[in-house]
Amino acid sequence: MQRLYPLPSTEVPLDQVYRDLGWPEPPPDRPFVALNMVTTVDGAAALDHQAQPIGSATDHRLMRCIRANADAVMIGAGTLRAESVDPSVPAAFEVERVQRGLQPQPLAIVVSASAELPLQRSFFHSPRFQRVVLTGPEAPEDRLRRLRPLAQVVVAGTGAFDLAAGLRRLRQQLGVRWLLAEGGPTLNAALLAAELLDELFWTVAPRLAGGQAPTMVAGPLLPAERQPRLILRSVHLQDSELYLRYQVGSAHHAPPAE
Ligand SMILES: NC(=O)c1ccc[n+]([C@@H]2O[C@H](COP(=O)([O-])OP(=O)(O)OC[C@H]3O[C@@H](n4cnc5c(N)ncnc54)[C@H](OP(=O)(O)O)[C@@H]3O)[C@@H](O)[C@H]2O)c1
Repeated sequence: MQRLYPLPSTEVPLDQVYRDLGWPEPPPDRPFVALNMVTTVDGAAALDHQAQPIGSATDHRLMRCIRANADAVMIGAGTLRAESVDPSVPAAFEVERVQRGLQPQPLAIVVSASAELPLQRSFFHSPRFQRVVLTGPEAPEDRLRRLRPLAQVVVAGTGAFDLAAGLRRLRQQLGVRWLLAEGGPTLNAALLAAELLDELFWTVAPRLAGGQAPTMVAGPLLPAERQPRLILRSVHLQDSELYLRYQVGSAHHAPPAE
């Protein structure tokens, strides 16, 4: 794989590209949060409600390398309702993870205020990883009762689900230091609005969807002064597919209007 940035450009073995991300120590009240997404060149984050067909096999390998750095992988309930998700890493990564002080497999977290989840999905039955359902106080008790044999249920917020409170509980009660969010666009919008994103990995797949499709973030437009500035950390290239890593900086505070 070709590294295009930082310069000088150089050839890098695929499995070394995101092997050790050197993520910083997290803040005390939440995990360090990275987001990994793939889109087409025209911005489609799903094709016929599926993300899986967008990226190449190389993208899927890089996704697992990024996961290998994380304590937990988090998705929104909409993603699990739309497609089958396996947030694990290959067994070959497990020894290295343990040497780095991580569990052999990342914790699998699904965010759902309603707790209305597709319990038939293999996500809820795989013996390879532990699961957490991050939900809110409005989730009906009978749904939580059905979930509890399959996953740890964490209720966050008072009155309504509170994502920031949920991340605080992941950090302080479950010891999640490095959290990898993997979409979808609704959860991404909530993370962005709550200023909970630290890094973004974005794969630009060399194709045009050509129609209406969800983009990376599906939420209300942020006012300009709350849009974070992104700092480019690296760019890699293989077979016309681009792999970008950004640091999410603080919001740009525009000067007050005259
Ligand atoms: N291109 C990519 O890299 C990529 C990655 C992942 C997914 N996708 C695609 O994205 C689509 C799904 O995305 P989506 O936007 O529909 O769903 P989503 O973001 O996966 O999940 C949205 C759901 O998560 C829960 N949730 C998330 N944040 C919340 C908050 N702050 N407060 C309350 N609830 C919250 C809610 O669940 P409840 O409704 O249960 O309360 C909400 O309906 C699929 O087609 C999938 O293929 C693409």
